[in-house]
Amino acid sequence: MKKFKIVTTMIVFSLLFVLSACGTSTTSGSGEKKTLRIVTDATYAPFEYQDKGEVVGFDVDFVKAVAKEAGYDVKVEHVGWDPLFVEIKGKTADAAISSITITDDRKQTYDFTIPYFLSKNEIMVPKKSDIKNAQDLKGKVIAVQNGTTGQDAVEALIGKNNNKLKKFESNNLAILELKGGGADAVVSDNTVIETYIKNNPKDNFKFIEDDTTFQKEFYGILLPKGSKLKADFDKAIKKVVENGTYEKIYKKWLNTKLDLKTLKE
Ligand code: ARG
Repeated sequence: MKKFKIVTTMIVFSLLFVLSACGTSTTSGSGEKKTLRIVTDATYAPFEYQDKGEVVGFDVDFVKAVAKEAGYDVKVEHVGWDPLFVEIKGKTADAAISSITITDDRKQTYDFTIPYFLSKNEIMVPKKSDIKNAQDLKGKVIAVQNGTTGQDAVEALIGKNNNKLKKFESNNLAILELKGGGADAVVSDNTVIETYIKNNPKDNFKFIEDDTTFQKEFYGILLPKGSKLKADFDKAIKKVVENGTYEKIYKKWLNTKLDLKTLKE
């Protein structure tokens, strides 16, 4: 169990190592910082969750560091998964951070910053389950968070509108369904599943990776289409990775060494 493994790597464009030192702080001359409203679905530990009424996690520290570097203050607010997209579309929030995978489909409606985290879907099942890989999910009852890449991945396997697929408003509700025996498996992001298993050993769940079925995904900060924050944030992300802040946040929340590998998308 000590061998808790988060297979995850950070994408650093080779460009990143070349670029940089010329970056200057964008704090306005007056010293007055604008406070950005950042929305999230804080039910996704270790990236975003609530602790004593406060929204905390990897994403929270990361977006705070990025915003600070770009010269802004931030307020991170839990609004839920579907609502966060509504807010960004309607421009009632400045940005959303919520382990959001950059997808072509979402890119039609939203802008994203450059990627900041590599993820993959993964399967969580009871330890005694006979499910061994993604193909084995066929015919089983599967719980996912509605509107996630986990849902897309499962639908690609078993077809859309399959009544064996149960969709929930949050990932935690999907996990509860598995716990209660109403589902045979949950499909969601690998780091989230592995964190859950580590923190809840009494549940007797295990995770199953399947690289032939589940594709690499990258998280980005979600922005309204055409947001002028994109340029500032992209630059700030590069800076935060480069100056070691990213690595600190990574260690704090993921409790594992950052593998700074250059990855091709
Ligand atoms: N990465 C997946 C997606 O973008 C799931 C993210 C869910 N995030 C959350 N905070 N519930 O679809």
